[in-house]
Amino acid sequence: MAAAVQKPSPAYPLGSRLDDDGRLEIGGCDALDLAREFGTPALIVAVDDIRARVRAFTAAFAARTDDFEVHFASKAFACTAVMRLMAEEGLACDVAGGGELHMALKAGFDPGRIHLHGNAKSRRELEEAHAAGVGHVVLDNVRDIERLEEIVAPGERQPVQMRIAPGVSPDTHPSISTGGPNTKFGFNLDAAAPAIARVMASDRLDLEGLHIHIGSQIVDLAPFRPAIAALADLGDFRMFNLGGGLGVAYTGFDHPPAIEDYVAFKVDAVEQLAGPGKRILDEPGRALVANSTVTLYTVESVKRNVMTYVAVDGGMSDNLRPMLYGARYEAMVVGRPGGDTRCHLVGKHCESGDILIHDAELADPRAGDVIVTPATGAYGFSMANTYNGQPRAPVVFVSGGDARVVVRRETYDDLTVRDV
Ligand code: LLP
Repeated sequence: MAAAVQKPSPAYPLGSRLDDDGRLEIGGCDALDLAREFGTPALIVAVDDIRARVRAFTAAFAARTDDFEVHFASKAFACTAVMRLMAEEGLACDVAGGGELHMALKAGFDPGRIHLHGNAKSRRELEEAHAAGVGHVVLDNVRDIERLEEIVAPGERQPVQMRIAPGVSPDTHPSISTGGPNTKFGFNLDAAAPAIARVMASDRLDLEGLHIHIGSQIVDLAPFRPAIAALADLGDFRMFNLGGGLGVAYTGFDHPPAIEDYVAFKVDAVEQLAGPGKRILDEPGRALVANSTVTLYTVESVKRNVMTYVAVDGGMSDNLRPMLYGARYEAMVVGRPGGDTRCHLVGKHCESGDILIHDAELADPRAGDVIVTPATGAYGFSMANTYNGQPRAPVVFVSGGDARVVVRRETYDDLTVRDV
């Protein structure tokens, strides 16, 4: 008799399947087959999950307002193939600097739908963005204003937004909270008014709207309201860019707001606080990609040193989030779901802090097992590194039972390719 199909935890990509025999399917592909074919560690991206979340965002906005644009915050998964998917789905995007701008252009975004951010933009980045014809440069500081005024030729104009620090701190890890008054991002409320006046008087810059991004992995929406109120107090602008921030489920215990609730909250707040008819931009990153992806690892060793340590062939080189933000993930032995062996799931790097999951519960983990950690699509690939000479993991797109590599595994030769 065929094994019954269960739904894996909500941290897994939409459409994932887990049967009673422990067989795990992502994007219609068997996870053990993927590990065999592509090796480990590997990032497995369920393309249909990303498409579904993009469409949910767009539909949620369309249900509330005619005038909006969803921008993919490309830093969340700065991989050309992912960015191309977003462009195909009709999103605009924001880039954090010249490198992401290069990738966004390569991915096929219309330059007019790319928006440049950055609290320390170089002159070169501003020149490149203006020359490419980006939709907006998001001004962060007075130096941005001065430089862009020098770069834009007489008679030309560059559309801009201004990033405001609204003095609101959401409940999230301090390293990803960005909207308080004492922040390196944007103009705080004291500095905003004179800076806005200066930009409005410019004959080279067109100030089209104000921007906030108050933080990331936000699960309580309430702080968006005072942040939007702070923008509304700064003047009668036509356009509000509300940044990203929607939190996601990293484990089955997390219950973030639905995309529809997040969108409704923001749109309603703009309408109520700034008035109807405003153009609303939003910059989701994590919420579009986090749950699309799982990481497959192989267990290299299991030992008991007071605690049981299950060591895999990746770690802080492919997922820095547990180390930087104390982020909590879940894991399972592929083929043996559940289990009650309490252990630390650790990486292979030469640091005691290289712990992917403290107190994981796995089913009798053994060397050679394949381990899966879901919800690794946001900021994992983008923050990956080659610590200890670890080649970076490939990215594999899966959909409808087909798998294709979109970023190959890094090689040892890649590690020395920049040597001169
Ligand atoms: N817009 C701006 C201007 C941003 O700086 C960010 C993220 C976003 C949008 C997207 O935010 P999201 O929707 O993803 O929350 N490395 C950290 C996250 C850093 C977020 C940086 N800015 C992490 O792994 O949690």
